[in-house]
Amino acid sequence: MSETSDDPKQASRRKFLAGAAGLAFGAATRPARADDKNLPPNVAGWTKQLGDGVVARPYGTPSKFEKDVIRRDVPWLTASRESSVSFTPLHELDGIITPNGLCFERHHGGIAEIDPNDYRLMIHGLVDKPLIFTLEDLKRLPRVNRIYFLECAANSGMEWRGAQLNGCQYTHGMVHCVQYTGVPLKLLLEQAALKANASWIMAEGGDAAALNRSLPMHKALGDCLVAYRSNGEMLRPEQGYPVRLVVPGWQGNMWVKWLRRIKVGDRPWYSREETGKYTDLMENGKARQFTFEMDAKSVITSPSPQAPVKRKGFTVISGLAWSGRGKIKRVDVSLDGGRNWRTARIDGPVFDRACVRFYAEIEWNGEELLLQSRAMDDTGYVQPTKGDLRKIRGVNSVYHNNGIQTWALKASGEVENVEVG
Ligand code: MTE
Repeated sequence: MSETSDDPKQASRRKFLAGAAGLAFGAATRPARADDKNLPPNVAGWTKQLGDGVVARPYGTPSKFEKDVIRRDVPWLTASRESSVSFTPLHELDGIITPNGLCFERHHGGIAEIDPNDYRLMIHGLVDKPLIFTLEDLKRLPRVNRIYFLECAANSGMEWRGAQLNGCQYTHGMVHCVQYTGVPLKLLLEQAALKANASWIMAEGGDAAALNRSLPMHKALGDCLVAYRSNGEMLRPEQGYPVRLVVPGWQGNMWVKWLRRIKVGDRPWYSREETGKYTDLMENGKARQFTFEMDAKSVITSPSPQAPVKRKGFTVISGLAWSGRGKIKRVDVSLDGGRNWRTARIDGPVFDRACVRFYAEIEWNGEELLLQSRAMDDTGYVQPTKGDLRKIRGVNSVYHNNGIQTWALKASGEVENVEVG
């Protein structure tokens, strides 16, 4: 293809290269400062002396210049530290994998500190052969690797009555996506030999909350994992070390951490987590129970309130999309609050019930924009507007808010959480 081609792809590539060159020039032509001693044509300080050696860093940490890329919490949101939540810094990340140390944490009774030698997983109830597994037992069994998102049902829960928290870390940061290594739960249940009337399981954690949830047997025998690794290394304590349940596509509350026991039964247990909590209070005062699946959702992570636009010109809009019902098929981006849509570019792998990364490149000349993204999954489901969601759900809910997010990009480059329509 020649350089004079009118091919829009080529044109946008030329614009991109022009933009990138502009960035480099911008830096080179700004007035000299005393601390420019490290900039070309000088030889930087770090080149003039040997750096630190390879000792004394048994476990690597990010560069000190990345010190603001951290989980954050909202102090007024929860009553105590032990029953609290921290949020993933989505605006600082790219690609689809969340680094282990940045995965949001949500626990109800603090982090259980479990000695792996004393770890046991018990399977009992409606089985012919009750079993107790050690961690070593689990590690000896055939294992699989799967990349899944985990989203807390309360993600975006503060936004039901209108825009509230100014940052995608807070509005959408109760989601992470990692690669789990573990044993299919099916394998363990089969070893325990299910009785004919076995149709539900109850999974319980070994933490002080003894958090427990009922799961229908078709899910337990389907794709659930008993996982002990995240992104290759053993689970972090706050993520359930040494073993957690992985329940692909279903609400995060069911992914029981510090997994202690699985009881097999013939009906749900109606525990605290599926009656008093994690039910959806509807407009008519009735509560919807067992809303297991997380519907398709997306958010623009940059620009966003914590990631303002620093200069005019070529600008990359970037975000994440996920669906608990399957694969993300398409993501659209709007610059005008949902009047017009363009198809975003998905880059990187697209896995079943995992996050996907999308991009839309624009030329931004300082005009005010209303940025939105809209996810579609391979079941044909389309992420709804907040207005459409409220028509069905009212505003009494905390959980399962997957409405389309709007960010107002101001002429200054700052971004604000707003609602349209
Ligand atoms: N498991 C136990 N044992 N105790 C808990 O408090 N919290 C649940 C779930 N599993 C919880 C638990 C909730 S509400 C969520 S959203 C996810 O774990 C959060 O997982 P994460 O902390 O790895 O992000």
